[in-house]
This record gives sequence, structure tokens and C-alpha cells, in this order.
Amino acid sequence: MGNVVVTGSASGIGAASAERLRAAGNRVIGVDVGSADVVADLGAPEGRQHAIRAVLDLCGGTLDGVAAVAGVGPDTRDPAAVASINYFGCVELLTGLHPALRRSGAGRAVVISSNSASTVPLIDGTLVELLLAGDEDGARKQAVAARNALPDRALATSPSVCAYATSKLALARWVRRTAVTPEWARRNILLNAIAPGAVLTPLMTRSTGTDADGDPDAFPTPMPLGAFGEPADIAFWVEQFLHPQARFTTGAILYVDGGTDAAMRPDSQPAPLEGS
Ligand code: NAI
Repeated sequence: MGNVVVTGSASGIGAASAERLRAAGNRVIGVDVGSADVVADLGAPEGRQHAIRAVLDLCGGTLDGVAAVAGVGPDTRDPAAVASINYFGCVELLTGLHPALRRSGAGRAVVISSNSASTVPLIDGTLVELLLAGDEDGARKQAVAARNALPDRALATSPSVCAYATSKLALARWVRRTAVTPEWARRNILLNAIAPGAVLTPLMTRSTGTDADGDPDAFPTPMPLGAFGEPADIAFWVEQFLHPQARFTTGAILYVDGGTDAAMRPDSQPAPLEGS
């Protein structure tokens, strides 16, 4: 099949995606701050540049797919790191790998957003703007300010809940804005996002205190299917979005969340055209 990159390949959804893509015959280049083909900290500009150079070296300058999965959760102590890793670690890497995707003639990219973007009532509008404007220093400061405004209960368990949900909203918005630009769409590079719900990974267990033995019906958000997701449930869609036959979908946000978003906001999609 092709040369594909998976970030966050050392654990959870990234590891399951790398495994599935490899089983489908792709050559997978894993990128992670832990053990990976390319070891890089995507939370820092130098780490991202190192990752881009190392990937281009390994793939010979042409890539068929990128799955930007790496991320950290709401339990992260430093919300500035969440803004840097979850948003810039994804956007800067994809932007740096864009020429390699273009060379393939049918590049595919998928990013992992989250249903937190639409189900957590703590989105910081200023932070969304700073992220989308590419102002990393400003976004890092705002993420810290947003943490300091949290109620004590949230501060204790989820100090980065606002930065987390907001970074995932900005990421989804970046995907929709970017996918339809001529640089991506007319180069036949498809760009989509997956918005997972509660998936049993170390990130989810750490952030929520829920594990495989937990009761889905006791989870803070509704779980209509009565089950948590497994990393393989997301990896399935990652492979579909990177498949060469996925030719007519770009700028999509696919909820893979057991029905949580639909249960919480049944009528929010599709939204009618403004003015109609
Ligand atoms: P995980 O903790 O199992 O895996 C995350 C991976 O990202 C790890 O291998 C970690 O080393 C890597 N990573 C973290 N910081 C990094 C950095 N600075 N540079 C390079 N790599 C770094 O977590 P999981 O759940 O598999 O998360 C994958 C993605 O899915 C994340 O973006 C997360 O926000 C998203 N997500 C997960 C949900 C869940 O319930 N598990 C729900 C919604 C979204």
C-alpha cells in the first residue's frame, strides 16, 4: 500500500492504528515521545521540526498518509503543554509534511479531535482564536489563565480540562477550514478528523478514573451503546480515512463515541444554513 505516519504510536489509539495500518500492508513510521521509529516531543517547536526532518528522511520525501493521534489528557498538570501538544503538535506536523503528502498525488490525513469539543461546557473562546491564529505563546498563556479560573473541584482532578476541550475544538475547526483550501483539496490531499468519546486507554483511565471494569452508565456523559470504546474501534476509522479509496470525504468530523454527542445534542447537526 503506502508510506504512512502515525503519531502517538507508542500507546492506545495510536498503537492500535499503527498495528492496523501495518496489517493492511502499509509501511508505518511511528512518531512518539516514548519508544518509536522517530522519537520526538511534539509539544516543542524543535521537537516538531526534528520529527518532520526524520520522517522525510525515512520516507524519501513522499507520504501517502498521516494519522496525527498523539495527545495528552485533561489530567495534565500544565495546560500550556496541552495547547502545544494537542494543537500545534498536530497542525505544525501536518503542515510540515504537506509537501510529502502532495508528492504522493493522493495524500490522506486524519487527526484525532475529541467529542469533548462539543460535550464539555468549558470552551475558552479566546484560546480558540489564539490557537487558530497560530499564536503558540499567547495560547500557552491563555491556557494557564483558563486553568486558574476553574472551580476547585475541577482543578484537583482535571486541571487541563478547558485547554483539552478547547484545543480539540480548535483542531476540528482547523481541519474544516484547511481541508477545503486549494493547497489541500486541489492537491488531492484529503483531511478529516475523528472525534472519539470514552475509549479505554491510559489517557482515559488517568483522566476519568474509569477502567475496563467501570460501568458505562455511571460515566459522567451518556453512553447510549452501554459500552466504552476500544482503541481498535478508532483504528478502524483511521484506516478508512487513510485508504486510497476514500476519495470523496474531506473536512469531515466523524464522531466515534458510542452515541454520546448525539445523545447530548441530538438536533445540533445538521445546522441549517444561516439566514434560512
Ligand atoms: P495514550 O496516552 O494511550 O496515547 C497517547 C500517545 O501520545 C502516547 O504514546 C504518548 O507518548 C504520545 N504523546 C504524548 N505527548 C507527546 C508528545 N509531546 N510528543 C509525542 N508524543 C506524545 O492516549 P490515547 O487515548 O490513545 O490518545 C490518543 C489521542 O486520542 C489523543 O489525541 C487524545 O486526546 C485522543 N482522544 C482520546 C480519547 C480517549 O477516551 N482515550 C477520547 C477522545 C480523544
